[in-house]
Parts: sequence; C-alpha cells; structure tokens
Amino acid sequence: MSDASTADGFPAIPFTALPGLVSADGVYLVTAGGQRILDAGGQACVSNIGYGRADVADVAAKALLSLTHALPPVQTPQRIRLVQRLTEAWLPPELHRIHFVNSGSEAVDAAIRLARQHHLASGRPGKWKVIGREASYHGVTIGALGVSGHTQRRRGLEPLLSTVPLAPACYPLRCRHCASTRRCSLQCAEGLEALIEREGADSIAAFIAEPIVGTSGGALVPPDDYWPRVQEICRRHQVLLIVDEVITGFGRTGRKFAFQHWDLKPDMVLVAKGFTGGYAALAALITTQRVIGPLLASNQSIMFHTFGGHPAACAVADKVLEILEREALVERAAQLGVYLANKLSRLRAHPQVAEVRGRGLLWAVEIVRNKTTLEQFPETAGVTLDIIRAGVERGVLFYFGGTGEHRDVICIAPAFVITTEEIDRLVEVLEQSIDAVVANAMRPL
Ligand SMILES: Cc1ncc(COP(=O)(O)O)c(C=O)c1O
Repeated sequence: MSDASTADGFPAIPFTALPGLVSADGVYLVTAGGQRILDAGGQACVSNIGYGRADVADVAAKALLSLTHALPPVQTPQRIRLVQRLTEAWLPPELHRIHFVNSGSEAVDAAIRLARQHHLASGRPGKWKVIGREASYHGVTIGALGVSGHTQRRRGLEPLLSTVPLAPACYPLRCRHCASTRRCSLQCAEGLEALIEREGADSIAAFIAEPIVGTSGGALVPPDDYWPRVQEICRRHQVLLIVDEVITGFGRTGRKFAFQHWDLKPDMVLVAKGFTGGYAALAALITTQRVIGPLLASNQSIMFHTFGGHPAACAVADKVLEILEREALVERAAQLGVYLANKLSRLRAHPQVAEVRGRGLLWAVEIVRNKTTLEQFPETAGVTLDIIRAGVERGVLFYFGGTGEHRDVICIAPAFVITTEEIDRLVEVLEQSIDAVVANAMRPL
C-alpha cells in the first residue's frame, strides 16, 4: 500500500483547484498540509449548517447500528420521522408525496420519468417531452444532462442526450431581447410558450428550471413577473412545472424554498445538497396527490435506486432540518444575505466585474474582459479556475459557476453559520483574487 497522503490513481482526472482535505469544522476546511480554508462556497453549495457537528454524526451511527439498510419503498422510523418533519414544518400542504433518491441527478431523472408516467396514466400518451432552459445544470446522468443547458458538460455527449430544444434562460444581463433596456420584457417567458406551441403542447410533459439559478448561470434572480407568467403558461398547456431546488432548497436564498419568493405552486420539487448539509447522500422528488393519483389508480410505481432513502441518510437529514429550525438558520441566511450583498456591492465598480447578483446566501460575481461590451475572456484563459486557485492561496475557497458558453462566474454560498467578520474576509479575498488574476489575463496575447 502506498503512502496515505497521495494516491496516484485518484482522482481519475487530476483536480487541481483544491489540495486534499483531511477535516472540517464550522465554515473551515483543513487540507492535508494543515492549511485552514474558509469555505465560501459550501464546497458546491452543500454546507448549510457547517461542518463537524457531533449530534448529526451520532444519529447516523445510531441508525447504522439499528437498521443497516432497508429497501427504499419500505417504511422505517427514520424515513417516517423525516417525512413528518418535511410535511409539518417545511413544505406547503399539497406537496406531501415523497420519493427518496441519492443525488440531485437521480431526483431529476425520477421527475422526468414521473412526468411521463403521470401523463400516460392520465390518458395523455402523446406527452413525453421535458423542456429545460439554456444556461442551466440539472445533473450528470444522461436524463438530467439532457434537460440541462450546460454547454461545457454536454460537450461531446450530445448524441446521447435529449434533443428537445431548450427554452430561453432568464438572464437579464445577457438577454438578447432586453439587455439594452435592463427592463425585462418577459420575452424569455414568451419564448417558453412559443417553444411549447412549436413542438406541440400535446407532446410536452413538463418544464424544469431552478427558481433562482444556482451555479450554472450564477445566482440569476428573475424579475418578479417571470415565474407567475411561466406558471400560467405551464398550466394552460397541461405542462407539469418541476422546480429544481437542489441548490436553493432549505434556506439557501433566505426562504425555505426559492419558489416561495413568488406565488408558485409547483407540481414537483427536487431537493438534495443542503437537505443533509453534506453529512450524507440524500435527495428527494417531492410531488402532489394530483400528480401521483393517476399512477396509483393504474397500479404503477416509481422505480427506486438500491440505496435510495438510506435510513442513516434520512436520520441525518431529519437532524439537519431540526438544527436549521432550532437555530433559526433560514432567517439568519436572509439577514446575512443583506450584509453580504452590501459588502459585495463595492465590487460593482471593478472594471472587470459585469454584475454582482444573488439572494440570501447565494451570490455570484460575473467577470468579463470588457464591461461595456460584456466581451468574455477566452474559455482557454481559465479565468474562473485561476481566481478559485488565487482564493485558496489566500485561504478562501469559492465555487466555480458558468456553463462554458457563459463563463467566469464566481459563486459564493457559505454555510448559514458564517459570521460577519468572516464575510468581510471573504469579500476582501475575493477582490484580491480577482485583481491578481485579471491583471494577468488582460495582458495582450
Ligand atoms: C441545480 C442542480 N440540480 C441538480 C444537480 C445534480 O445534483 P448531484 O450532483 O447531487 O447529482 C446539481 C449539481 O450541482 C445542481 O446544481
């Protein structure tokens, strides 16, 4: 056996943004070399209650000892308790049918399958297409990537992926319809309706999108009219509305769920990441009786993954949600979000910062070569990764955003237990890291 501090074969493709990690506590990660790094991105927008909580580890150990594994559709005390907490304290009453899986991608795949199964069982066999949006990411399984507008992650895999066209993103800074006026004309929402009509409404099963786009667009918050209009379009065409809350769920944007910033009644809600705050692998597809009813009536089921809703993962999620409630961390995310927004606002004057945007504790800074024309740095310049590396050198880890086509978006999504002093430091290091990298990248080739 080789030395435990290095492993030649892992990862299969070298990862150079971050050194190996050995431990974590609160909002800090500790590297193999002993460096303490302030985790400003919750690694990948995962950590919401912070790292190293013994009470979470204790419930996992207890569950593993008492019931190692149980087939996913079987009721266990851990699953029952979690479903009770979700339905009593977190979800609107109509969203009470829950299917557990292991990852966000699996939740998206399950939603695609369920949309199809729902329409089939409802006597609408022509409806099977699921529409995603440009500049989006819903996961890496073939189904989830097929509804994602992440050009870089799709590259080369296109023959394997869904060919249903994508609807326009709601990306005001770069909108082809209204960027020059900076007032949304809702052409992006109308673009969804035009697409539904072009493809034939009787072929469209569902529309999937993040209420506030996480890392692919980089904390894109739509104008207030956008979601009500989209919901109305979906309802009129009997298109199920699937909201992907994998990043935004459980308080990240200062509300329990991001769809609650508007008067939305989604047909399916998908959660992962902050569901367990990184303490275990758990995700879920949450839906309504209206969606499930036709399946029940026709004796259909939703196929599970072997480890879906693992008892230990459910016990962990239950404890993580209890901590969020007990420590009022969703409210804290909303309050600290205002503080972070104020601190970040000074970056708006930076000549290479096109936009600073976000809500709650989900923020993004978009870097450009030319602020007037929004010309980007070439993809090959690797500006995002260089800024992340510069941050790590200074003791702060940010998360990378963008899709290749839309790029150089630095994401900020710390745990909700971060302090104002740590936010001050994070913003200072972000500014230094941007300066250090763009000065170099601006040099003529
Ligand atoms: C919005 C969104 N949906 C789905 C996923 C896929 O989740 P997972 O990586 O757990 O499969 C991600 C992952 O980053 C995501 O950001």
